[in-house]
Amino acid sequence: MGEHRIDLPDVDGLIIGILGGTGDQGKGLARRFSLAGHTVLIGSRNAERAEEAARGVAAPGTRTRGAENAAVAAEADIVIVAVPWDGHRALLESLRDELSGKIVVDCVNPLGFDKRGAYALPVEEGSAAQQAAAVLTGSRVVAAFHHVSAVLLLDPEVDRIDLDVLVLGDDREATDIVRALAGRIPGFRGVYGGRLRNAHQVEALTANLISINRRYKAHAGIRITDV
Ligand SMILES: NC(=O)c1ccc[n+]([C@@H]2O[C@H](COP(=O)([O-])OP(=O)(O)OC[C@H]3O[C@@H](n4cnc5c(N)ncnc54)[C@H](OP(=O)(O)O)[C@@H]3O)[C@@H](O)[C@H]2O)c1
Repeated sequence: MGEHRIDLPDVDGLIIGILGGTGDQGKGLARRFSLAGHTVLIGSRNAERAEEAARGVAAPGTRTRGAENAAVAAEADIVIVAVPWDGHRALLESLRDELSGKIVVDCVNPLGFDKRGAYALPVEEGSAAQQAAAVLTGSRVVAAFHHVSAVLLLDPEVDRIDLDVLVLGDDREATDIVRALAGRIPGFRGVYGGRLRNAHQVEALTANLISINRRYKAHAGIRITDV
């Protein structure tokens, strides 16, 4: 357990951008990172929508605000991708230059839904995170935050969310930074979960969590034991 808390980089003061930050997942993460003292830049295809979302989640004392996705990608130190799977590739292709050299954190779950519930979609590149890495050849792509419940993130009654965030990537320094960032949310712990080639089953596991949530009326997360 101790190794998870020590020797992680200091991420204080990092400006966090969120593409598609007007959705529940983006707003939920923005709210928690803003409460942790980070300035969060909420991105949208529409600047007004982004500003409105930012007003709803900004914690006092931070400079959390909204802007168009391209401006957010250019200004933020680290960028979280929180758009639906449908718009994933096209958005990243349009922001290649702005995202070059940055850590890009992908939390996108390629899922389908039918009468029997959620299921994992096949992805040509293997996973959403690998698609991001294939498009953003100049960025440091990390996969994380797939199993986080937006409902809990947005609930003002919930102070602490007990959850391990699996962090995957091929760049040790980048995965350590994202593990540290996960740890900024009370109850969260960032756990290294392997290289990007193993992101598919982490993204797909969200379908199982959705089934668990439906059966047990819960907002289930995961804990990794013995680390
Ligand atoms: N919801 C959760 O609990 C949860 C948990 C873990 C992971 N995730 C993942 O996080 C991502 C976002 O989830 P969400 O529930 O927040 O989704 P969402 O509300 O459907 O979408 C988020 C935002 O993405 C933008 N967007 C929609 N279609 C787009 C397109 N074609 N191109 C570019 N931007 C587009 C919209 O913002 P603008 O219209 O303002 O541009 C929208 O507000 C998903 O990939 C999901 O798998 C969600």
